Amino acid sequence: MIEPANDAIAELLRGRRTIHNFQAEPVPQALLLQALELARWAPNHHLTEPWRFYLPGPATIAEIIDLNCRLVAAQKGAAAADNKRRRWASMPGWLVLTSQRSDKPVCQQEDYAACCCAVQNMQLYLASKGVGVKWSTGTVTREAAFYQILGADPEQEQVVGLFWYGYPVLTPPRRRNKDVAEITIELP
Ligand SMILES: Cc1cc2nc3c(=O)[nH]c(=O)nc-3n(C[C@H](O)[C@H](O)[C@H](O)COP(=O)(O)O)c2cc1C
Repeated sequence: MIEPANDAIAELLRGRRTIHNFQAEPVPQALLLQALELARWAPNHHLTEPWRFYLPGPATIAEIIDLNCRLVAAQKGAAAADNKRRRWASMPGWLVLTSQRSDKPVCQQEDYAACCCAVQNMQLYLASKGVGVKWSTGTVTREAAFYQILGADPEQEQVVGLFWYGYPVLTPPRRRNKDVAEITIELP
């Protein structure tokens, strides 16, 4: 049984939460750009710098919302699509991250891993400034039409996630189910 660390970085790591509901106030663009500048300092085998950060403006956001509503309407009906439209239209900040594909499977996996590290750099920096993030890998992010909206070639890039960011309405409680001892295997 270890005593959990309680220094500032430990608190930042433990305190960052996925945020589902945001205040309307937008996050300054300069702060997001700082977070992206830090994101790219993530570890990255062969320094391929596989990340591409797309910052959708209002017209692109509207296209993504329309596409998602069409998908939701087809699966769950018009009322569910309307609800989703309202919810997505209220998201104050939008970002899409893609990872460059590689014809070498190991390289592609390592590049995706590096992108995930970059996401965490970004999330932690934003969290330190009171800004929350939600990482989404919903159906829409796998659609050919989604890549088309971004102007991204799905043979060259893979979507790592659609991210919403903003000032949290509520930060959910901390939760991890497994004890460290349960996930740690000491070997001779
Ligand atoms: C690769 C990845 C994809 C995720 N996709 C979704 C998603 O589509 N919808 C969602 O609500 N949360 C998504 N999340 C957030 C997780 O649900 C969240 O991290 C988890 O519930 C733990 O909560 P915490 O981030 O507050 O610690 C994703 C997280 C990761 C790492």
